[in-house]
Amino acid sequence: MTNIKFFYGNEVPLEMHKVRIVQKLNLLPVEERVEKMKEAGFNTFLLQNRDVFMDMLTDSGVNAMSDKQQAAMLQADDSYAGSETFNRLRAKLEEIFGMKYFLPTHQGRAAENVIASAYVKKGQIIPMNYHFTTTKAHITVNGGKVEEIFIDEALNLTSTHPFKGNIDTEKLKKLIDTHGAENIGYVRMEAGTNLIGGQPHSLENLQEVRNICDQYGLMLVYDASLLQDNLHFIKERETACQNMSIREIAKEIAKQCDIIYFSARKLGAARGGGIITNDKNIYMELREYITLYEGFLTYGGMSVREMEAIAVGLEETMDEEVINQGPNFIKYMTEQFQKKGVPVVTPPGGLGCHINAMEFVDHLKQNEYPAGALAAAIYIASGVRGMERGTMSEQRNEDGTETFAHMELVRLAMPRRVFTLSQINYAVDRIAWLYENRHLIGGLRFVEEPKVLRFFFGRLEPTCDWPEKLAEAFRRDFGDSL
Ligand SMILES: Cc1ncc(COP(=O)(O)O)c(C=O)c1O
Repeated sequence: MTNIKFFYGNEVPLEMHKVRIVQKLNLLPVEERVEKMKEAGFNTFLLQNRDVFMDMLTDSGVNAMSDKQQAAMLQADDSYAGSETFNRLRAKLEEIFGMKYFLPTHQGRAAENVIASAYVKKGQIIPMNYHFTTTKAHITVNGGKVEEIFIDEALNLTSTHPFKGNIDTEKLKKLIDTHGAENIGYVRMEAGTNLIGGQPHSLENLQEVRNICDQYGLMLVYDASLLQDNLHFIKERETACQNMSIREIAKEIAKQCDIIYFSARKLGAARGGGIITNDKNIYMELREYITLYEGFLTYGGMSVREMEAIAVGLEETMDEEVINQGPNFIKYMTEQFQKKGVPVVTPPGGLGCHINAMEFVDHLKQNEYPAGALAAAIYIASGVRGMERGTMSEQRNEDGTETFAHMELVRLAMPRRVFTLSQINYAVDRIAWLYENRHLIGGLRFVEEPKVLRFFFGRLEPTCDWPEKLAEAFRRDFGDSL
């Protein structure tokens, strides 16, 4: 993709695929978008998809499948136990990662449940580059505590650091020395760090973390859900790896880890998840949780059709021309925003384009949920559904006070091969308009607040009539346009 030059300059990311199945989209008038946002309790998770023009909530389970994935689904071996589909998927995982044992789970968080249930003891600390929402929830439910030991640059939103997802190895050693290795459950590294803007770690950093784990006799658990972007960035940005193939990088990553788990809604571009390891003891310790919570050991809650699609999706992940589509579209979108002065996270990462709400709506306080308010305003202005990744996505402390997020981001996820470049240009145009009118955006407050993972189904209301004012400004500027 990046190697294709245009004669008249103006390089744009070129799709290396063609579209053969399409879904009609619906763009509602702005006044109706205000109504739909109210019905959804100002939470973009609660919008109905029929009311959304571009669904940029997530890339989870909504990437476009390839013809080969669809074809593979037809040859699924539908049996409760001993399915050939399981054997094919296990063999593909072993071929790519060199790990023999595969425990299937129905999705990524189910793998987190199994690992946390087995290896997090009350009072233990789990150091990691950064938490993911479901990861933290499973660790805390089991009595553990997450400690983030990211490099200082990780929280610099406008950085040029190529690997903001790295662990600070000095902080890691200090943390283990302070608490004692016996009080550390395991060390967790997340590929393509979701909550800090899809930022990758380097292979070198992972190797250093492995060495520290060896020194202290600790297990290294790797969350590979966003591995496909991380593989791309290692190849593109890490000098020592430029002559390695994607396959070689994946093997080298796996060599550093005791356990790898993944959401196959992301890695493998289908729907499911799993855990792999080379350690028979770990396999034996974890497998009873699979039969207890997930399903029999040869399907783990997944449909065999999806398992076939995952096996093909993993193979396609080894193709740089396939995996660079997401990062290249994200880079394009980020650069278009930068040209218009819209504050975005840099360098562009994987997963999606991330807007810095703290700067976009700098007149709002963190307890007014600036990223949640901005996500609602983006839907009103454009019909684009993004996701709040800020304080709303945190859990309150035990005393009821807010945990203010390190960053207030709105993530515009880039489901792979789903949107065209003109749709991305549309989203940039509407959001750039919103930026010009940002003073109209007001705050939100909870009216219904679940205790756990409140961002999924909590309901909020605006602190004043700002949504109506925003719609009026839209009408003035766009006339009768949708
Ligand atoms: C880094 C990371 N870990 C775990 C998960 C959880 O996976 P799932 O949604 O399949 O449960 C996700 C999902 O987005 C993720 O991004």
